[in-house]
Amino acid sequence: MAAATTGMPMLAALAILVLVPSARGLDRAEFLPGFLFGVATSAYQIEGAYLEDGKGLSNWDVFTHTRSRGIDDGRNGDVADDHYHRYMDVEIIHSLGVNSYRFSISWARILPRGRLGGVNSAGIAFYDRLIDALVQKGIEPFVTLHHFDLPHEMETRYGGWLGAGIREEFDYYADVCFKAFGDRVKFWTTINEPNLFTRLAYVLGKYPPARCSAPFGTCESGNSHHEPYVAAHNMLLLHAAAVHNYKKNYQATQGGSIGIVIAMKWYEPLMNTTEDILAARRALSFEVDWFLEPIFFGDYPGEMHELLSSNLPKFTSEEKSLLRKNKADFIGINHYTTIYVKDCISSPCDLNTYETYEGNALVLATGERDGVAIGKPTAFDGYYDVPEGMEQIVKYVNQRYKNTPVYVTENGYSQHSNNTMDELINDVERVNYLQGYLTCLSSAVRKGANVRGYFVWSIIDNFEWTFGFTVRFGLYHVDYETQKRTPKMSAKWYRDFLMGSRPTDQVQTLRADS
Ligand SMILES: *[C@@H]1O[C@H](CO)[C@@H](O)[C@H](O)[C@H]1NC(C)=O
Ligand SMILES: *[C@@H]1O[C@H](CO)[C@@H](O)[C@H](O)[C@H]1NC(C)=O
Repeated sequence: MAAATTGMPMLAALAILVLVPSARGLDRAEFLPGFLFGVATSAYQIEGAYLEDGKGLSNWDVFTHTRSRGIDDGRNGDVADDHYHRYMDVEIIHSLGVNSYRFSISWARILPRGRLGGVNSAGIAFYDRLIDALVQKGIEPFVTLHHFDLPHEMETRYGGWLGAGIREEFDYYADVCFKAFGDRVKFWTTINEPNLFTRLAYVLGKYPPARCSAPFGTCESGNSHHEPYVAAHNMLLLHAAAVHNYKKNYQATQGGSIGIVIAMKWYEPLMNTTEDILAARRALSFEVDWFLEPIFFGDYPGEMHELLSSNLPKFTSEEKSLLRKNKADFIGINHYTTIYVKDCISSPCDLNTYETYEGNALVLATGERDGVAIGKPTAFDGYYDVPEGMEQIVKYVNQRYKNTPVYVTENGYSQHSNNTMDELINDVERVNYLQGYLTCLSSAVRKGANVRGYFVWSIIDNFEWTFGFTVRFGLYHVDYETQKRTPKMSAKWYRDFLMGSRPTDQVQTLRADS
């Protein structure tokens, strides 16, 4: 064997390794058969067509048009990714080798005026076509009923989530969806990240209806100490009512399951003190157990009762029993980051720091300890690359809500849009991020964690709420002028992982050849 011929393939192999970080130590076969691997999106962030085919205005349509100052680049989702007109997105999704796709239904597209108007048949037809296209390709639709976009009329009629009238509206909407799509949809979730939404909308006043009070923010009206808990109370009750309806009237014939999706950070104590260790637990309690304890055990966590007293609404005994009898079939975890927390009870924290939305829990969240960041920062303020948090949060939810299956419904990495095209496409940092988090998830699975699925946020760059288009989460780059989709390095990496053709295999093949 001549030296010249052995050198070449080795170099080629090394070039592949440098170009695309390998999926070594990570194997799809380690996850149970039937484990869902997918990508995720939401209606307002990708669909566009905001006034087409009978769709009603949503809270976000109105908010972005009337308060564009609240969006970093002043833009909106009128067109977004124009997904409403682009069925080839299903081809892109399919090309990755996923077996599931998580998306949300636009409530205002189905019921432009809520329960008091008619069902928009063009809206039903749009989702029918999407669901059929997915099912035909063997991709399991994983459907969110509500992902931040509410028919605007709900805001004017009920004060959004603050009015109890929203419960019947949601119940009606959910029923229309179960009836129309439930023959093909086997995975339903009621609300996406109600904990994050209520804090941004009613504590910080940054999402519609932009209500808040001092010291959390400056809004025309609102009460940051009370209203987020009223909104959450209504969300919990309408979630339970929808689960009740699904289980009573649809589950036996349609054979699906229903859950809820909660945004979950992992919290590390800033200092190794009893106070900060308790603060980290309290932060989880105010973020995660705020929703999951009522759903699984019928009431809010004890420490929320203690700290919030009369600001926390009370469940009647019938409501407690409705909750307990209609537990979610599974828990969706949206997990992106880990941060440090510091206690603010033993020594009060600076008022300026209340913009960290853990404020009511009397904890201060911070990304740094002694000037050193907890992980590599991402384009999203306060979000760091800390893969170990994935295993921790899954373990926490598994232990606390015993035997309830978990799906990681979102995990992903953001880039600044103002990077060069070359940097955006060669997204090595995203590949490293996803590889790290998936490796920790597979480690949790090896130790017996009850996890049934994992979804990357997102398949394509899209409208990121108050960030507008200034950040990009996609595995595919989108040129918003032409709507051209271009796969990033991370899309190729995810496909290689899912299809099992890994660069390490290629290296071995090349070595065997030489
Ligand atoms: C925290 O302190 C305890 C006791 O003081 C010690 O046993 C433990 O190793 C410390 N943990 C860390 C992470 O430093
Ligand atoms: C890119 O945008 C971010 C905010 O979106 C900003 O902080 C940063 O300075 C910008 N960088 C350049 C090079 O313009």
